[in-house]
Parts: sequence; C-alpha cells; structure tokens
Amino acid sequence: MHKKLLSFLLAAPASADIIFATSYNDHALTTLDFSGGKLTKVGSPKLDCGSEPTWLTLDSANSVLYCLNEGWGGASSITSYKASANGSLTTLDVLPVLKSPVASTLFGANSSRLAVAFYDTSSFATFSVANPKDLALLSQTNYTLAAPGPHPDRQEAPHLHDAVLDPSKKFILVPDLGSDLLRVYKVDESAASGASAVGVVKAVAGSGPRHAVFATAGAKTYLYTVNELSNTITGYTVSYKADGSFPEFTQIFDVSTHGPGGSVPAGTKSAEIQISPDNKFIIVSSRGEKSVTIPALDGSSNSTIASDPLISFSIDAATGKLTLVQVGPAGGVNPRGFTLNKAGTLVVSALQDDNRVVVIERDVKTGMLGKILGHATVGMGDGNGPNYALFYE
Ligand SMILES: *[C@@H]1O[C@H](CO)[C@@H](O)[C@H](O)[C@H]1NC(C)=O
Ligand SMILES: *[C@@H]1O[C@H](CO)[C@@H](O)[C@H](O)[C@H]1NC(C)=O
Ligand SMILES: *[C@@H]1O[C@H](CO)[C@@H](O)[C@H](O)[C@H]1NC(C)=O
Ligand SMILES: *[C@@H]1O[C@H](CO)[C@@H](O)[C@H](O)[C@H]1NC(C)=O
Repeated sequence: MHKKLLSFLLAAPASADIIFATSYNDHALTTLDFSGGKLTKVGSPKLDCGSEPTWLTLDSANSVLYCLNEGWGGASSITSYKASANGSLTTLDVLPVLKSPVASTLFGANSSRLAVAFYDTSSFATFSVANPKDLALLSQTNYTLAAPGPHPDRQEAPHLHDAVLDPSKKFILVPDLGSDLLRVYKVDESAASGASAVGVVKAVAGSGPRHAVFATAGAKTYLYTVNELSNTITGYTVSYKADGSFPEFTQIFDVSTHGPGGSVPAGTKSAEIQISPDNKFIIVSSRGEKSVTIPALDGSSNSTIASDPLISFSIDAATGKLTLVQVGPAGGVNPRGFTLNKAGTLVVSALQDDNRVVVIERDVKTGMLGKILGHATVGMGDGNGPNYALFYE
C-alpha cells in the first residue's frame, strides 16, 4: 500500500469506538471511548442538554447529534451539537420545546426534519433541522383521551413515547402508551411542512405500547412494539398500498417479553426494543426483574451482581414470528436504553439504577449476547442515572 495512504488510514479516527450517553442525575451528555477493551470518559460532559437529558438522535452523514431534554426539573429543550471525530461536541443551538420530549427520529430528504414524541404533554411535533444552528418548530398536535384506559394510573391521558421512521421512509409510527394506539403519520413532501396524521392502529387494550421497530425480510415488512404495561411484544405485518395511503397493519401475535408462556415479576417494566442491523433479531430490555447475574465488574472478587435482562428473539422471515434466543445480561439494573453498533457486534446499555454504561459483545450469527467488554460510571447519586447510549458511527 502507498505509504501516505497507509499513514492516513492509521491516523483516521476510529469513530465506531465513540459512544454518547445521557443521564438524568448528573444532567449530562457524556462522551465515552471504547477502545483497547476499556470504556473511558472523554473530555468534560456537556451540561447544556438541560436538566434531564434523554434520547439522542445522530445525523451521521453530517456529524450532528440531537439531544432531547425532558425537563422535569426545568424547561424542556432540544440541543443540536456538531460532533468532531474524537467525540467532542460543539453546541449549535438550543430550542425550547413543550415539556417531556422522549424520543425522536430524523426524516425527509437530507434528514432535514426531526419528529418528536412528547410523553406528559400528549403531543407529536416536527421540527426543521435543515440548519442545525437554527432549529425551528414545523408542526405540533396535542391529543386528549375521552376516558382513562385499563391502567388509569398510567393511561389517564395520551402518552406518546417513540417516533419511528418506517423502512419506506414515508411514514412515522408513534406508539401512544396512554391511549393503547399506534399513531401513523405520512411524511409531507415539502420540507417546509412536517408530517400528517393518516390513521391509528389499535394496540392490545391495556398493553401500553412504548417503543417500536420495523423489520424487513425480502418484500415483507413487520412491526414489533414493546408494551410497557403488559410486558409483551406485539407483532404486526405491514402491507403498503400502491397509492401511498395508510398501510394496513395486521396483528400476528402478542407474547410475553420472555416469549410464549413467559412471565415477569410484579413491578417489571419493559423499556426498549431494537432490531439487529441484519433485520434477523430483535432485542428488548426489561426493567426491574434482576433475573440475571453477571460477574462483578470491579475485578476484585469472584462474586456476582444482579442484572436485568436483554431478551433476544430471532425473526422468522416468512411469518414474522419470534423465537426466543436468549435471556441475556443488560449489565445491571434498570436498562432503559440500549443500542447496537452498525456491525451488530456490540451492544451499549445504559443502566439507570447503577450509574453504569456497559458494552456487551454480541454474536451476529446466533444473536447471543456474551461478555461485558467494558464498563464505566456515568451519572452521580442515587437512581435516575444513565438512560440512553448511542454509538457514534
Ligand atoms: C477533539 O477534536 C477537537 C476538534 O477537532 C479538538 O479541538 C480537540 O482538541 C480534540 N480533543 C482531543 C482530546 O484530542
Ligand atoms: C438535499 O441536498 C441536496 C444537495 O445538497 C440539495 O440539492 C437538495 O435541495 C436538498 N433537499 C432538501 C429537501 O433540502
Ligand atoms: C399543546 O399543549 C401545550 C400545553 O401542553 C400548549 O402550550 C400548546 O399551545 C398546545 N399546542 C397546540 C397546537 O394546541
Ligand atoms: C476465584 O476464581 C478463581 C478462578 O476461577 C479460582 O481459582 C479461585 O479459587 C476463586 N476464589 C475464590 C475465593 O472462590
């Protein structure tokens, strides 16, 4: 190889090793570096994602990171950052928004718009991020509920909890935990406009759909929701219409987060669902079970520590049905958010009750999670620590 090219390649930043993590209790967005088998903090955490930083959305083509601030203890906001190759972040804009943004997705040509679900304020909004230095609201819709749902303590109002772009990139699906609905929006063609409501899918009554992922298998499309109140996963087939109107969603199953016949201890709250990059597996996180043990991470003894599970399933490409693969380790307690790297070989998991972020190895062929390869303390104080983590790639 040409000497100059080789040295360029060697000097190129290994951005797959950079991880961004948010935590509530230290009000911080932290950059971590996973290399040499260790997970370490890099630089100073950013404190301008507000009082309760949560969901992160990365525009990797433009190295822009969007951070949502739920704002329980202050004002809510969306902050945009330019990320440099080493993971250092420069603030571009801070936009005040309605209370409680909890999840977001980029959509539209050039990823120039951001769709956001708001939990407490029962709202769906879209923003222009065409200029990440000047974020701007495009549309906002508030929802109400005529009567509380089967879990009145959590279903007293609509609670929009996720915003997911479908594989055709023409629709945005928003699970509403309070209303037991999946709200579906069609992406408006004009970049000066947001996305328009085209229909709703009724979820299982009392299930409390929280997060969702789409899977594609050849010409087929499936949708899976993880349901926080019933601790189940619901599967749907998705049939697109030739005229581009509201697709047909047909429920194919609703099973325990531990698979058919499975159960969870009282107080369990499932949280996240992710699809593997090859679309062959889904993984869900289940908070409050402490059903797995892992070797102590301090290396000083042979003891074990409690962990909640990350539960993996393989997808039957022909039917969309799931087969339990593993009840694996989340790396600690209260795994609110976790994500995979693009290769599907690593999972980064945020453990809200342990002030810990871990990197777990994953076998792409079998879908099995393996050893905890690295861990770091993120967050400070009791409870409500790290809640989301994302690879920078
Ligand atoms: C990271 O990159 C930024 C921007 O290129 C630079 O200013 C900063 O010094 C770098 N930090 C480290 C620790 O190398
Ligand atoms: C997307 O980017 C291309 C190239 O920069 C530009 O020509 C096009 O107008 C952009 N489209 C939108 C909707 O911003
Ligand atoms: C939505 O509700 C918020 C209060 O939660 C209010 O400030 C806002 O004006 C409402 N927006 C619309 C479009 O009705
Ligand atoms: C700890 O584990 C090592 C390796 O498995 C073993 O050799 C050693 O006896 C164990 N120590 C205790 C105190 O159990």
